[in-house]
Amino acid sequence: MRIIMLGAPGAGKGTQAKRIAERLQVPHISTGDIFRANIKNGTELGMRAKSYMDAGSLVPDSLTLELVMDRIAGEDCQNGYVFDGFPRTIPQAEALEKALSELGQKVDFAVDIEVPDEDIIGRMGGRRACLQCGATYHVAYAAPKTEGVCDRCGAGLTLRDDDKPETVKKRLAVYHEQTQPLIDFYRNKGCLAQADGTKDVEDVFCEILKLLGV
Ligand code: AP5
Repeated sequence: MRIIMLGAPGAGKGTQAKRIAERLQVPHISTGDIFRANIKNGTELGMRAKSYMDAGSLVPDSLTLELVMDRIAGEDCQNGYVFDGFPRTIPQAEALEKALSELGQKVDFAVDIEVPDEDIIGRMGGRRACLQCGATYHVAYAAPKTEGVCDRCGAGLTLRDDDKPETVKKRLAVYHEQTQPLIDFYRNKGCLAQADGTKDVEDVFCEILKLLGV
């Protein structure tokens, strides 16, 4: 199954995408995680992406598409994947559709997680991320066993540079302008599934599984 996660920054796309991918036994592909890993490792891709990310803007489509197309050509993507943070613009969605149709494939579900902007700002300040393995926590809703330490790999947890309140506001504005139109794009394709992201993590997961019919 090929699934796309839609929703504002902080809506819970990453949290749910990891669970869905584990349940379906397919890769979880987060463009944000890929960019962050490249920044951490000081690659050329990372250096090119960093200034856009720190400013709360989108990385240019050309850079993003190149890395996504490479990734889905991988052997482990043959039975599907869960995209988290991609596509994020209409040109990205159209490029994906074209690439898939050349393979006789299509997106099966675009899962939109709905959370109002006012809830997002509160969530982001409490998020703690592991830059080593990509795990995500929240100081109030999903705390690690030991404060500041990743349960999964033992690395230190950090507040992402782009989770500062001014940058979150900019990211929300970019989301409404450039990414929200994808909701209608996928509604018109007949594969949109919308979930209430204000419920707790487990309830949101159950709602999504029902929508996917798994
Ligand atoms: P990216 O990493 O994709 O960030 P994002 O879309 O802004 O989403 P987030 O990771 O911030 O949030 P999320 O929805 O995954 O929420 P999470 O599950 O962590 O992208 C970062 C940047 O990279 C972009 O700004 C852009 O510059 C660039 N980029 C990436 N992809 C790109 C692309 N395709 N094109 C161009 N540029 C691109 O949850 C948030 C917090 O809330 C966590 O602490 C979590 O524990 C908590 N939480 C989750 N669910 C719940 C719940 N139900 N109740 C309470 N708390 C919850």
